[in-house]
Amino acid sequence: HIFSTCGKLVQFEMWDSDDPVPRVELLKRVKGCEGILCVLTEKIDAQLLNAAGPNLKVVSTMSVGFDHLSLDELKKRGIRVGYTPDVLTDCVAELTVALLLATSRRLIEATHEAKTGGWGTWRTLWLCGHELANSTVGILGLGRIGVAIAERLKPFKVKKFIYTDVALRPELANMIEAEYVSLDELAKQSDFLAICCALTPETYGICNWNLFSKMKKNAIFINTSRGGVVNQEDLYEALSTGLIAGAGLDVTTPEPLPTHHPLFTLKNCVILPHVASASYTTRNSMSALAANNLLAGLRGEPMPKELKL
Ligand code: DGY
Repeated sequence: HIFSTCGKLVQFEMWDSDDPVPRVELLKRVKGCEGILCVLTEKIDAQLLNAAGPNLKVVSTMSVGFDHLSLDELKKRGIRVGYTPDVLTDCVAELTVALLLATSRRLIEATHEAKTGGWGTWRTLWLCGHELANSTVGILGLGRIGVAIAERLKPFKVKKFIYTDVALRPELANMIEAEYVSLDELAKQSDFLAICCALTPETYGICNWNLFSKMKKNAIFINTSRGGVVNQEDLYEALSTGLIAGAGLDVTTPEPLPTHHPLFTLKNCVILPHVASASYTTRNSMSALAANNLLAGLRGEPMPKELKL
């Protein structure tokens, strides 16, 4: 295909399917290209960059997460990187709240019981969950999305917001009156713990037995960041032994999570197939931003959202 931008012709090839492009196909087709627009299913690593060759100037990912990009390799080759922060913040925060409520108020179990004859007479303790009113909400990794989640949870009468991160985030924290605490304190104090950090070597597996064993028995764990931040064996143990009350996961390792995975057997684990940014409006904004990043990069101009390498 060919289209024109600012008086210049751009030739492009598109993988016209909602399914990921097979790796061998991708390696073949990137040869010689100057720009790549990808989604998070494509690993942009040394192998792919070598296959593309020295013409490659820009990689634009239609995602806010960039753990599928080998940043060192990109930097080494002087390749610029665009990504899509901000445009998905509202959508991801909204889904996170939905997942939190579905998990804490046991909505999936409840609809299943109603549909399958488990609904007998009204019972005092049946399907009781945990409420947000008067609770402490912890945020691991306070960025734009963490703030947006807190803003939405506040009207539910949350008592206190706490957070931890590699550094203090005073400006963001002030917006939601969140207190900085250590990771240990975050685990100990949170009734609800939302994981909002990027997946990096520092955060890989950070939600492990060490964290879960310090959490409250009534705690609800919510992850809409990346599966890699969680040690899933430890999470299974924590959920199945009642160490914590429940978990809502929009992201897992691997994706898709095999249907026979033990986490699927647990009633107190709600698993979604990585849909936090899946609204028509947001996916449109993400794709437009990714395209504009790519074109700006190709023209050698500042990108609307460039990742500093
Ligand atoms: C992202 O953008 O990184 C999300 O995981 C998908 O929208």
